[in-house]
Amino acid sequence: MSSLFGGSSSSSSPSSSSSTTQNIDLGLQMSGVPPPVAPKLYKRNRLRIKELLSSPPMGSTVTVCGWARTIRNADAGKLLFIELNDGSTTLSVQCVLKESTTGFEESKSTKSGGTGASFEIVGEVIQSEGAGQAIEILVIKSTLLGAVYGGDAEGKTVGGAKYPLSKKGHTLEHLREHAHLRPRSKVHSAAMRVRHAMAFATHKFFNDNGFLYVHTPIITCADCEGAGEQFGVTTMFGVDPHKTDVKVPYVEPEKEEKKEEAAGADGEPKKGLSNKAKKKAEKKAAALAKKAALQLAEGGKPPEEKLPIGAVDYTKDFFAKRANLTVSGQLNVETHCCAMSDVYTFGPTFRAENSHTSRHLAEFWMIEPEIAFADLHDDINLAEDYIKYCVTYALEVCKDDLEFFETSPFGEKGLIERLKNVIAAPFKRLTYTEGIKVLQKVVEDGHKFEESKIEWGMDLGSEHERYLCETVFKKPVVLTDYPKDIKAFYMKLNEDGKTVAAADILVPKIGELVGGSQREHRADTLHERCVQSGVDPKAVWWYMELRKFGTIPHAGFGLGFERLILFITGLENIRDVIPFPRAPGLADF
Ligand code: 4AD
Ligand code: MG
Repeated sequence: MSSLFGGSSSSSSPSSSSSTTQNIDLGLQMSGVPPPVAPKLYKRNRLRIKELLSSPPMGSTVTVCGWARTIRNADAGKLLFIELNDGSTTLSVQCVLKESTTGFEESKSTKSGGTGASFEIVGEVIQSEGAGQAIEILVIKSTLLGAVYGGDAEGKTVGGAKYPLSKKGHTLEHLREHAHLRPRSKVHSAAMRVRHAMAFATHKFFNDNGFLYVHTPIITCADCEGAGEQFGVTTMFGVDPHKTDVKVPYVEPEKEEKKEEAAGADGEPKKGLSNKAKKKAEKKAAALAKKAALQLAEGGKPPEEKLPIGAVDYTKDFFAKRANLTVSGQLNVETHCCAMSDVYTFGPTFRAENSHTSRHLAEFWMIEPEIAFADLHDDINLAEDYIKYCVTYALEVCKDDLEFFETSPFGEKGLIERLKNVIAAPFKRLTYTEGIKVLQKVVEDGHKFEESKIEWGMDLGSEHERYLCETVFKKPVVLTDYPKDIKAFYMKLNEDGKTVAAADILVPKIGELVGGSQREHRADTLHERCVQSGVDPKAVWWYMELRKFGTIPHAGFGLGFERLILFITGLENIRDVIPFPRAPGLADF
C-alpha cells in the first residue's frame, strides 16, 4: 500500500530494513516542529523565567515569581542571593538583594525558611558579575509569599529543617515518597516538560497527517487484550464507600446445590467433587462454552445463561453487566476507523497485572492510531515515522531538558547522540521466527539469559527483547509475524495458519515500546479466533458486526506513552515519568 506521507512505501517485506522516513524531512521545517520559543505569559505581567533567560530585556524592570532553590548570605550579611525557579525551565535566575532593598529582612532564611519559600521579585535585569550565569536581577522589591515551616517538631515555626526537598540532592525513591513536592525537583520537572512536549507532538503529528482524534471510553464491558487483567467498575458496594460488610447480589449456593450430577445441564462443576470429577466437569463446561460461542458465531441464538454458583450477579449492578476500566481503546477506535478512515485515540488505560517492574504501571497512557485500507507494512511505517517525529521534536523543543538529562546522575550519558542515531537510520525489521533463530545462536555462542531455553512459540521476555536491540542490532527492532497462540484474537491470521500479522517495536533500554497488528477483517476467521482464544463473541458482537457490514483491511498499534518518555529522557523507572504512578500497593497521593 502507498505511504501515508506521499510516495510509495519503501518496504515491501517486513524483513526489509528500509523505511519511509526518506519521505519526511526530519529537519525543523518539513517536520513541522516549531522553533523553540518561550511562550509569553497569558495576559499577566510577570515574566516566566524561561522567557527571561532566553531573551533577557537588559536594563528593564521585570517581575518574576517562583520558589527559592537556595537563599544565601554574602558580604557579612549585607547581600542576599535568592536562586529562584518557577518550573518553566530547569535553570534558575539569581536575584541579588542589598540591605537597602525593600523586603531584605523578610527574605532572609531565618524569616522565610530558606529553600522552598515562595517570592514575588521586582527588579532590574543586569549583566551578572558572578560566574555561572549570564544575567541576574538586581532586586528593587522582594515580597515573601509563603514561608517554609518546619523549624520545630510541630512544624509551626519558620525554618526549613523539615522541607523534604532541601538543597542537597535526593534519591529518586525519596522524591517518589514526596510526589506532591517532587515537581519542584529538577529531575521531575524536566521529565514533566518532556512529557508535555511529547503529548503535544503526538497530537501535532496525527493532526498534521489527517488523523481524527477519537475519545474512546474509559469504562467498557469488553476485554480487548483478553488477558483478564481488568479493574472492575461497580456501585454494588453501596453508597457508603467505607462500609466493609456490604453484601453484593450473588447466586445463593444452597439453591443451586440440590440440582444435577457431576456437570449439570448448565455445565457448571458442582461443589465437593473429587479432583477427577472436577476435571471432567470443567472439561464439560469448557466444551459447552465453546459450543455456545460457535452457535452464536453461526448466527444462532445464544444459549440461556446461568450464573455459576456463588458468582456475583452483575445484572443488579449499575451497567446491568460486569464493567471494567479499559485496557485499550482499540476495539472502540476501530469502529470510527471503519467509517472515517485514519483515526487515533490517546488516553489512560488500566491493567491489573501484578507487575512490580520498572516498565509497568497499573494506570498508563496509550496512543492508539488505527488506519483504514492499510496493511501491516503501512502500520509499521507509520509507527516508525511517528517515533522518529517525537524524537526529532524532543531534540528541537526540549533541548535544555535533554542536556540536563545528559549530565544528570539520573539521566544517561550519550543520550542526545543515542536519540540522533534513532532518527538517522531505518529500524531493523525481521520476523519473530528469524528473531528466535538469532537468539538461539546467541545462546549457542555462550550467552546466558535468565530464560535460555529459546524455542519457537515462546513469549519473549524483556531480557530477550532488549538483547536484540541493544546488543545484536544496536537500534530499534521491529519484530513481526508472531505465533498466533501468544497474541490477541483480533490480529490477522497469516496464510501459514500459525502466525499472525503482528508487529512489536523493541527499543534499547525499554524492550517493547509498541504493540500493533493488521486486524482480522474476515468475519469467519475472526469468529474462529475468538473461540480459540476464549473470547466470547457475543460480548463483542458490535465489533464482530464491523466485519459483516462493509469490512475493510485495516491496522493499528498501541504505544505506551510513559515508555516513550523513558526512551526520550533516559530515565530508568516508569514511576518517575508520570505525575502520580499507580502500581500494586501504590495509590497514595
Ligand atoms: O501490546 P499492548 O498490550 O497492545 C494493545 O493494547 C493493543 N490493543 C494496541 C493496539 O493495537 N491498538 O500494549 C501496547 C503498548 C505496549 O507496547 C507498551 O508500550 C504499553 O502499551 N504497555 C504498558 N505500559 C506501561 N505499563 C503497562 N502495564 C503496559 N502494558 C502495555
Ligand atoms: Mg504487547
